[in-house]
Amino acid sequence: MGLSASYLMVGGLGGLGRSISSWMADHGARELIFLSRSAGMTSKDDVFVKELQSMGCDVKLIAGDVTKLEDVTRAVAAATRLLKGVVQMSMILRDQSFKTMSFEDWNAVAAPKVEGTWKLHEATVAAKAELNFFVLLSSLSGVVGQPGQANYAGACTFLDAFAQYRNSLGMAASVIDIGAVEEVGYISENHGMINTMRATGFEGISEQELLDAMAVAMLCHPGGNQADEAAPSRNTPYYSPTAFVLGLSSSVPLTSPSNRAVWNRDRRMAAYHIVANDETAVAATAETLKSYLAMAKSDPSLLKLSEAANLFAVEIGKKLFDMLLRPYKELNTALSMTDLGLDSLVALELRAWWRQVFSFDVTVLEILGMGSLDALGQHAADGLHELTLSSREVS
Ligand SMILES: NC(=O)c1ccc[n+]([C@@H]2O[C@H](COP(=O)([O-])OP(=O)(O)OC[C@H]3O[C@@H](n4cnc5c(N)ncnc54)[C@H](OP(=O)(O)O)[C@@H]3O)[C@@H](O)[C@H]2O)c1
Repeated sequence: MGLSASYLMVGGLGGLGRSISSWMADHGARELIFLSRSAGMTSKDDVFVKELQSMGCDVKLIAGDVTKLEDVTRAVAAATRLLKGVVQMSMILRDQSFKTMSFEDWNAVAAPKVEGTWKLHEATVAAKAELNFFVLLSSLSGVVGQPGQANYAGACTFLDAFAQYRNSLGMAASVIDIGAVEEVGYISENHGMINTMRATGFEGISEQELLDAMAVAMLCHPGGNQADEAAPSRNTPYYSPTAFVLGLSSSVPLTSPSNRAVWNRDRRMAAYHIVANDETAVAATAETLKSYLAMAKSDPSLLKLSEAANLFAVEIGKKLFDMLLRPYKELNTALSMTDLGLDSLVALELRAWWRQVFSFDVTVLEILGMGSLDALGQHAADGLHELTLSSREVS
């Protein structure tokens, strides 16, 4: 965080905003401008403001509405240092089933995120602010939906799109689609809501995870015309380096009938089903390997049997497939490592697992150059045999 810079925190006196602001002050932010409708209107924020000031941070409280350009312009003009970052956290919720949702309910929720974000963009462009970050706090609701939140989900998908739009202009913008934050913020203060989120398959996010995500969001830069580069086409899946989700995981396995996660049947989550389907198999496979290795330790001659090399080939293959999110049924130990989808990054990860399981090292080059899983299985059996014999000699 730059000592000579100023940062605009919209809705920053709310639950998440306080946590993020303290963290920014702790990391060297020396001027924070808070824009929200009630900022400075009562004494409720006095203690918090004093706390930031005691950390050496100047605080400006601007009472205003992010949907009004004149208010946003006033907040931007309040910066006594160069404005280098914006965090847009404003939120209004009016949960209602879509059938009974009034147009007013729709607009009330959409306004701070849609109108407000446009105004922040316009006002900072007009002020010629060269922003290092323009972070939008959005919600998983826009990615996977949440009952009663069509208005909020719509507003959140707008934020995802707006980040792409700013990136296409070569400007900083990133968006975090957040799940349920447990320790701070609106959801944590509304116990009914955290229970509903949990029951519908959301695992809580800790405050630290949120702050880590903020650090990532502040550092992701568009680096050119990314929206064009990332534009979806027939053959390339869509990917955006400046948008990510936080907290999309379920405490109940996806295969369990009691899993009520709204995203359980979402086609985009298919890969997680493959992993979830194999959860029992993964546990069983780790157990098989463990007990075989224990037997081989007391009887090293077992490692000379072809059964050992075959078993290791299959278990290494299963580990590789776990990493590649591929189902075990496609496993063929005679195929070449490249045909199985191994690249140098995965090989690095496989090497770390290998060292842990077989207690001796294998190089990435050996893994890549070994030819097939069968050959790797044989390498594991030979290496273990040697290791077991030499450790017996030592003792
Ligand atoms: N808490 C979570 O677990 C969670 C989960 C997913 C996403 N998020 C996202 O994280 C952000 C912060 O959440 P939170 O829990 O900290 O919410 P919060 O405590 O309700 O804070 C939101 C703030 O927005 C301000 N605001 C509302 N309308 C405004 C407007 N028109 N102009 C200016 N300020 C306005 C409010 O202040 P005033 O009333 O004074 O205007 C309020 O302080 C939100 O953007 C939300 O979408 C949070």
